Amino acid sequence: MTEQKKLLRALAGETLDTPPVWMMRQAGRYLPEYKATRAQAGDFLSLCYNSDLAAEVTLQPIRRYGFDAAIMFADILLVPQALGADVWFVTGEGPRLSTITTADQAAALKPADAIHDKLAPIYETLRILRRELPSETTLIGFAGAPWTVATYMIAGRGTPDQAPAHALKNTDRATFEAVLDRITDATIQYLLMQIEAGAEVVKLFDSWAGSLKGDDFNKYALEPTRKIIAALKAKHPNIPVIAFPREAGPAYAEFAKAVGADCLALDTKVDLKWAADVLQKDGCVQGNLDPKLMVEGGDRLISETKRIVKALSGGPHIFNLGHGITPDADPENVHVMLEAIRG
Ligand code: CP3
Repeated sequence: MTEQKKLLRALAGETLDTPPVWMMRQAGRYLPEYKATRAQAGDFLSLCYNSDLAAEVTLQPIRRYGFDAAIMFADILLVPQALGADVWFVTGEGPRLSTITTADQAAALKPADAIHDKLAPIYETLRILRRELPSETTLIGFAGAPWTVATYMIAGRGTPDQAPAHALKNTDRATFEAVLDRITDATIQYLLMQIEAGAEVVKLFDSWAGSLKGDDFNKYALEPTRKIIAALKAKHPNIPVIAFPREAGPAYAEFAKAVGADCLALDTKVDLKWAADVLQKDGCVQGNLDPKLMVEGGDRLISETKRIVKALSGGPHIFNLGHGITPDADPENVHVMLEAIRG
């Protein structure tokens, strides 16, 4: 029964004796079975668009660890591709995209409602997962938040400081806002379709929210997220939304109050006493073990895991990492973490 899934209970505001747990990037290169399926698919994007294999890699960490949630296997950069950008991945380096820096290029993007043909395999992945997941496991869909997706579309790659996106924002605000608005509209449509295909929760990844300050943060991180959540809630008021304004710092508080998310995902820098006092009294929080500890292991992994569980034990909490697990993590350390949580 849906209302007994632990993750959904925490998202509904219940304080549980043991928090439900999943990990960002739980299907990934630290797992040998992931690498084998990825090789079978040929490359990363082919894996994303192959519904059977994408469902298979989503299920692998559930089988191995029994997490409380499965996050569908896909990538935030499939939305730019569906909007007409060229996207490819260079092994060992990361994503590359055709860039958008002019008004003409922004105007040439496809309309938001033209994304679904390209993204149809993702909806099929979700339908397969709803059939195949254990009844206690919650299915999470996701998208990138508009600012984070825009940073890749404008720069054509990942950047340490998001300088190209800031430059476009500061020199040609109309074009910058046109790109952001198109991503926002497409993201609403994409997430609505994910919910209709079986996602029980959706998460918005704003990995680069921390590089927006002051009024820019409000206009380009907070406001698009608020708009997306309002549109989802208008149609699906009971589907919980997790928001991840990574490295927003003290701005996590005003963000939490404004956007209407059911849960705030915390990055590794968020102080947990502050999170418990300021964020958790209004709802669920998720976080925030340093992914480096999944490489290091040992006593520090155990003590940090227990510290987080204890610090957030007074309210609704989903245990997770503060960012994605890395390829050099030891799969055995995940068992150590789970034992420290579930004991
Ligand atoms: O969390 C999950 O297990 C679900 C799948 C998922 C992936 N990417 C798979 C992936 C999710 C939720 C994402 C989100 C994503 N993608 C974000 C936001 C979260 C974050 O990490 O900050 C971002 C910024 C991207 C864009 C992206 N995709 C980058 C920068 C890279 C290269 C970096 C890297 O780790 O290689 C990717 C590739 C990617 N996305 C991989 C996986 C498993 C590795 C690709 C491979 O198998 O070679």
